[in-house]
Amino acid sequence: MSIHTTPPKPFAPIRSMGPGHRERMVRHLVALGPEDRYLRFGYPAGDPQIRQYVAGLNFERDDVFGIFNRRLELLAVAHLAYSSSPDCPSCAEFGVSVSAHARGRGYGKRLFERAVMHARNQGVEMMFIHALSENTVMLSIAAQAGSRLVRDGSETEAFLRLPPANFDTLVSELVQEQLAQTDYRWKAQLQAFRQLLGGAEVSAPPVASRERSEAHTDA
Ligand SMILES: CC(C)(COP(=O)(O)OP(=O)(O)OC[C@H]1O[C@@H](n2cnc3c(N)ncnc32)[C@H](O)[C@@H]1OP(=O)(O)O)[C@@H](O)C(=O)NCCC(=O)NCCS
Repeated sequence: MSIHTTPPKPFAPIRSMGPGHRERMVRHLVALGPEDRYLRFGYPAGDPQIRQYVAGLNFERDDVFGIFNRRLELLAVAHLAYSSSPDCPSCAEFGVSVSAHARGRGYGKRLFERAVMHARNQGVEMMFIHALSENTVMLSIAAQAGSRLVRDGSETEAFLRLPPANFDTLVSELVQEQLAQTDYRWKAQLQAFRQLLGGAEVSAPPVASRERSEAHTDA
């Protein structure tokens, strides 16, 4: 009798990002193909518009989360934009993109879950996603989390009502962020060391890091 098991999805720490990551974010977004840009922004954003979007990000007001490979290239990024509308003061909009070669590893879904947890901890009561109706993957991520989908022709709005934060969401976020920051620092040190050695491959990271690095097939 053969037992079918789904291969485990690779472990990828998600960290919060800041203004120092703008250039990496531009590189990630301009590498998206025309269809992905259309799905992400709702219009066929050109490189100048992408640069403008990234330059205009307000890291004081909004939150941005990312997944990096061991070369510190950004594989996936999510933007949680808090509403400034008096009609919806406790709302936030979620937008995400995953590099084409890193899809299907659960990064999109995990960034969504991370944003939900963070939004709850920030007191957000409603998270929404504006997606094209053809965007089945994004809409399935939203629907799986319990979102209400409201379709209006070629566009669909997903609304997810969030429960208040609790001890678990607060501690989980703190621990996940610490882990991700440590992972990022390790990768940065490794990269600096590699440069020092003139680009030679550096091997034998500590076991835990090695497991993580190997999980990133493009790392
Ligand atoms: C949408 C997007 C972020 C998904 O990223 P991803 O990392 O590939 O998605 P995940 O691996 O987390 O998959 C999420 C779920 O969708 C399912 N899924 C993946 N590909 C699918 C497909 N082609 N059709 C239907 N479902 C699919 C997965 O099975 C998974 O569900 P599961 O966990 O129950 O198995 C990515 O495709 C992307 O960047 N698209 C372009 C930009 C975009 O559309 N952004 C969203 C608008 S804001």
